[in-house]
Amino acid sequence: MLNVGILVSGGGSNLQAIIDKVESGYIKNVSIVTVVSSRPDAYALERAKKHGIKGICISRKTFSNIEEYDEALISHFKALEVDLVVMAGFLSILGERFTRAYEGRVINIHPALIPSFCGKGFYGIIPHQKVLESGVKVTGATVHFVELEADAGPIILQKAVCVEDDDTPEILQKRVMEQAEWEILPEAVRLFAENRLVVEGRRVKII
Ligand code: GRF
Repeated sequence: MLNVGILVSGGGSNLQAIIDKVESGYIKNVSIVTVVSSRPDAYALERAKKHGIKGICISRKTFSNIEEYDEALISHFKALEVDLVVMAGFLSILGERFTRAYEGRVINIHPALIPSFCGKGFYGIIPHQKVLESGVKVTGATVHFVELEADAGPIILQKAVCVEDDDTPEILQKRVMEQAEWEILPEAVRLFAENRLVVEGRRVKII
């Protein structure tokens, strides 16, 4: 059984997509043992509660530096023997201690086709605003392994989504979630659980 810990900050629709695919049996041998939110009022914690998953808030604000914050997250996940950490709409920065402690075992969903519209400052609705401002015709989402630099780790899965002429950032965000994020994030968890991901330098091969 693979123990999964999920990091959230907001509504939790990506968390819900993983919960649904674990409960439906599509993802096997995976147990979601904890949901950790960076905000006490995140609706994602309600979703976890509804499915009997332990939810907790560990807020960056309550720690005087990132090292202490990392240690708090590490000891929480170690206590629950977490094997894989999933960043599902998590808006806090993870530090060097955390990314080193869970190297190769942390994945993140980003609402754009990395290396476009990503990096520092590209979170929430902002990537979608920048996509529309730039006039590109295709966007999408990316699941990648997490390294210290934001959105820079080896890419596991991507899915493209067309940009429509009458899109607003909110309409585009909703379509990227529905058509890309809610599909590729659970799929990446399944592939990791089945030991089918092989990282070779910057590339991830699915075996
Ligand atoms: C998603 O678009 C995710 O890619 C981004 O933040 C949004 C969070 O959505 N990082 P939710 O909390 O999973 O509904």
